[in-house]
Amino acid sequence: MAHPRAIRTFVMRAGRTTIGQARALAELGPRYLLPYDPDTTDLVAACALQSGAEGQNHSKTVLEIGFGMGHATAHIAALMPDTLFIGCEVHEPGVGALLKAIGEQQLANLRIIQHDAVEVLQHMIAPASLHGVHIFFPDPWHKKRHHKRRLIQPPLVRLLATRIAPGGYVHLATDWEPYAQQMLQVLGAEPLLANTADGYAPRPAYRPETKFERRGLRLGHGVWDLVFRRLPTA
Ligand SMILES: C[S@@+](CC[C@H](N)C(=O)[O-])C[C@H]1O[C@@H](n2cnc3c(N)ncnc32)[C@H](O)[C@@H]1O
Repeated sequence: MAHPRAIRTFVMRAGRTTIGQARALAELGPRYLLPYDPDTTDLVAACALQSGAEGQNHSKTVLEIGFGMGHATAHIAALMPDTLFIGCEVHEPGVGALLKAIGEQQLANLRIIQHDAVEVLQHMIAPASLHGVHIFFPDPWHKKRHHKRRLIQPPLVRLLATRIAPGGYVHLATDWEPYAQQMLQVLGAEPLLANTADGYAPRPAYRPETKFERRGLRLGHGVWDLVFRRLPTA
């Protein structure tokens, strides 16, 4: 079990959904939202089937966990039209915002699943079916008593690693140094993963700097990227 059932990595925040987001949810939701269904045990294959029927052919699939308002997601999907991106997020205004971006930018290579990513990984992602996983600025859960809610912990990282195909990658970013250190330690200890850098990685060009990140960097705060590759099973 990747996380004990009662401990979630998020709390449901009340957030206002704008009129534009609500419209995107109503109009584009039926086409781009994937239902949470634990009986679908290979979501990547199901998406490939659907895309194929629509005349699209994506050679690779990348899962993003916790896309927030989806700015990086839309940016990266536009850069890589041959890759299918599945974004997982629980916060409804964020889901609406990304659907709106899909409509505005005509992003055919994005799907969204509005559900706890831990359960999605546990039930709907088949072993070795992903080319990559992106987790940008996961909730840092600053207080010690909340550390158990952090996403990046050994059982979840093991589960993630088994879902990535050999040669694929996991890319994390955080602006909270103690969490960056925990990430380096946990990913470094996972035998199925190998660091692509000596410690933290340079920011890959495809990950856009967020407004929040630019301001933080101006104030002298750091941002740490980690890129680990999935090794072939021994
Ligand atoms: C701090 S925000 C970062 C958002 C975005 N990645 C960014 O860089 O701006 C973390 C996001 O992860 C989402 N999240 C946390 N745990 C999650 C889970 N288990 N499944 C899906 N989304 C999750 C939260 O709802 C939140 O929107």
